Amino acid sequence: MLETVEVRKVTVVGAGDMGHGIAELFAVSGFDVTLMDKFPQAIEKAKARISASIDKLVERGKLTKEQADAARSRMAYSGDMAKAVSQADIVVEAVPESLELKKSVFKDIDEHAPPGAILASNTSNIRISDLAAATSRPDRTVGMHFFNPPMVMKLVEVIPGAKTDPAVVQELVEVSAKLGRTPVKVLRDSPGFIVNRINAADTLFFCLVLDKGMATPAEVDGFAKGQGLPMGPYELLDFVGVDIGADSLAYFAEALSPEYGKGKTFARMAKEGLLGKKTGKGFYDWSTGRAQIPDVAPTDKISIMDIFALEINEAVKLVEEGVAGPEDIEGGVTLGMNRPFGPIAVAKDLSNAEVKSKLEELAAKFDCQIFAPARSISEGRMRDAIEGRLAPPTEKSAAAPGESGQSPKEQSAGAGAVRLERLPGEVAKVVLNRPKLNTINAEILDGLDRIATELSNDPEVRVVIVTGEGAVFCAGADLSQFFSTSVAFMEFARKGARIMRKLSEMPKLTIAVLKGYALGGGLELALSCDIRVATDNVEIGFPELTRGLVPAWSGSQRLPKLLGVSQASFLILTSERINGRRAYELGLVNRLVPSGDPDEYAEKYAAQLASSQAPVAVMLAKKLINKGSEVPIDDGLEMEAMAAGLLFGTADLKEGISAFLGKRKAEFKGK
Ligand SMILES: NC(=O)c1ccc[n+]([C@@H]2O[C@H](COP(=O)([O-])OP(=O)(O)OC[C@H]3O[C@@H](n4cnc5c(N)ncnc54)[C@H](O)[C@@H]3O)[C@@H](O)[C@H]2O)c1
Repeated sequence: MLETVEVRKVTVVGAGDMGHGIAELFAVSGFDVTLMDKFPQAIEKAKARISASIDKLVERGKLTKEQADAARSRMAYSGDMAKAVSQADIVVEAVPESLELKKSVFKDIDEHAPPGAILASNTSNIRISDLAAATSRPDRTVGMHFFNPPMVMKLVEVIPGAKTDPAVVQELVEVSAKLGRTPVKVLRDSPGFIVNRINAADTLFFCLVLDKGMATPAEVDGFAKGQGLPMGPYELLDFVGVDIGADSLAYFAEALSPEYGKGKTFARMAKEGLLGKKTGKGFYDWSTGRAQIPDVAPTDKISIMDIFALEINEAVKLVEEGVAGPEDIEGGVTLGMNRPFGPIAVAKDLSNAEVKSKLEELAAKFDCQIFAPARSISEGRMRDAIEGRLAPPTEKSAAAPGESGQSPKEQSAGAGAVRLERLPGEVAKVVLNRPKLNTINAEILDGLDRIATELSNDPEVRVVIVTGEGAVFCAGADLSQFFSTSVAFMEFARKGARIMRKLSEMPKLTIAVLKGYALGGGLELALSCDIRVATDNVEIGFPELTRGLVPAWSGSQRLPKLLGVSQASFLILTSERINGRRAYELGLVNRLVPSGDPDEYAEKYAAQLASSQAPVAVMLAKKLINKGSEVPIDDGLEMEAMAAGLLFGTADLKEGISAFLGKRKAEFKGK
């Protein structure tokens, strides 16, 4: 397990609109802060802004004079990256939103920050994994997305990259709480995370409205104000900068779907320098410091239902893709966009049919598939999605464009909280995918049961990988489930043990990928596989006895067989957690993946085994190993002889021997 640090020293890199506010927030919350910027004038401006803001807090009675002085004394400023980050526990990067710039800044920070420091980005949209790749510590690189202005807005999205250690995410969640913010854990690294992903669909819509000449900015803003909004969308964009809208559409076009590039007006205005308030002219004239909005009648060409439907659609996609659950989406949008309610609450008052037909109308009107109904809405399952009963992610979302680093995979339909992927080379991948660290509930058990049957009968599959979505394998059974009687609880235990057995008896080679956590029921699932690969720092253990339980999904029986009574007793009776390396030394883990992506490693390993091991022989060998240990040795030896006899007639045996003699690779047919 990676050490977690007691965070006291924070360095913020980039002293602009966001950076100065983030630095101030940390300082008034009791952290020692260094604010770094490459440009001296940016530092001078930030100093003045922070000082004025702290003065205001005193004026308003939010800080005492002593607290303000203490906050000021905790702040330092620097123009030198090496010095600024050399003592940091956390570095928060807040330089402009450019992938190339951020990558070079991350590389620089990584070189000079202490090895244990957490590197966080305040990026609005960019995938964290893309930034983490520029560092030597992707496990300690994470997203920490504040909203503008950070001193006021309560939301912080905490985003793991593909390789981020869950302990690092947890640490930033705790730090965010110390800042008095409301952290929302994003479950999967995806462009724009929660709030800006939902915002991006609105941005595209309002760009296309102008492209098509449907209404003028003043007519739309008039309509929006009539709905009770303090500012219309174009006035707001003028206020924050039209370039921000244009850049965001360009990023989403590259990272998520080229259709975001359909909107043209914002990019053209950005090119012409019509950025809004900061250049004096955008949609409106700002020469007086305020938008001069012509007095016109509100448009009737758009309706509030357009926006509701688009936002619900993106929210449902986020659920389907496993980026966030409905509650976090609702919380994120209300806090991040300062709204009284979000798309989930709105969806609860609408029918699936209403939303679907509105989206179909918008997709046709704007010739834009981003507006077309998400899969669950198409299938009439919007309610399942917004009430958290849907399987994240689905075939469509997992195949969404822009998912970097993923090879094309044929997917079968999402099966509850377990997803089945079919990879090239006769390999299948079973992915646990639930909020709360992929914990196992009844839905996962049913999914595993169904998938085990499907794969057992599939001659096209030779090796099965069992893994968890994101950085965690599985943290155990979901203990928040309700059981009304001891009989119901006993049945749940029986069911789990039966499904573990079914998995262990699948006539395929199975590989579990242990990462993040493999605890309790998760460890029992791993023990039901033939081979276990693990990261160095995965936490492995049986916490059951600390909760008044025993391992009840076959762990108390499998572990002693695997490790012997002494080690099994130790692990079960003390609940001590061991890391992947120790488990490897004990023989619980077969392959260690000290660096790199454990899933990638498992996929390569599986493909290699699928092509080298004769499938019928695998099936019989598994039977011999599993059943042989349960019968007297003479019966076991007899089973072995019969298996050898059975194999004698197979084409694979002939092929295996002839390939061996011919010094070539065997091509097994599974016959
Ligand atoms: N402004 C917002 O509303 C908002 C909200 C949330 C997140 N963000 C994100 O926060 C980040 C910063 O945005 P901002 O609005 O504060 O930008 P900004 O332009 O106001 O500030 C960026 C600062 O970074 C400094 N900088 C540039 N290159 C640097 C380098 N190599 N090393 C150190 N400092 C450097 C600049 O001098 C500037 O002071 C972006 O990723 C943005 O997407 C912005």
